Amino acid sequence: MEKTFLMVKPDGVQRQLIGEIVSRFERKGLQLVGAKLMQISEELAEQHYGEHKGKPFFTELVEFITSGPVFAMVWQGENAIEICRQMMGKTNPKEALPGTIRGDFGMFVGKNVIHGSDSPESAEREIQLFFKEEELLTYDRHI
Ligand code: CMP
Repeated sequence: MEKTFLMVKPDGVQRQLIGEIVSRFERKGLQLVGAKLMQISEELAEQHYGEHKGKPFFTELVEFITSGPVFAMVWQGENAIEICRQMMGKTNPKEALPGTIRGDFGMFVGKNVIHGSDSPESAEREIQLFFKEEELLTYDRHI
């Protein structure tokens, strides 16, 4: 079963959108297998966003993601990565369709409410960065 890493960013946490966001993925049929409210260190931010190092917005990105608590999650399901990306909408909320998380709640690319893994490789890397193996729980779904 495919797993993906999602994170409600500091803007989403401050705006009290955790419940709304978790609810959307639950209702869709994905299974939550790990979650924690945490403060990201500068080192972790630089590792997580390593591929953006050198881009003009990198400093701003690290400052923002470390500016307050984030809600880190691992969700599981068939095609979880692609399904979650569709539900999040385009990176830039200006282009994200209504009905998607960024389309419904975001205004700015730098404060776009949620992050999600964009490929199986990044999902594996990001899950390992944020979670210990014992923090991920699998359980049977009976409904
Ligand atoms: P995310 O999915 O977390 O992955 C990288 C992030 O960089 C992205 O969401 C945006 O929040 C941010 N980002 C991308 N482009 C820009 C930009 N031009 N200015 C500021 N932030 C950006």
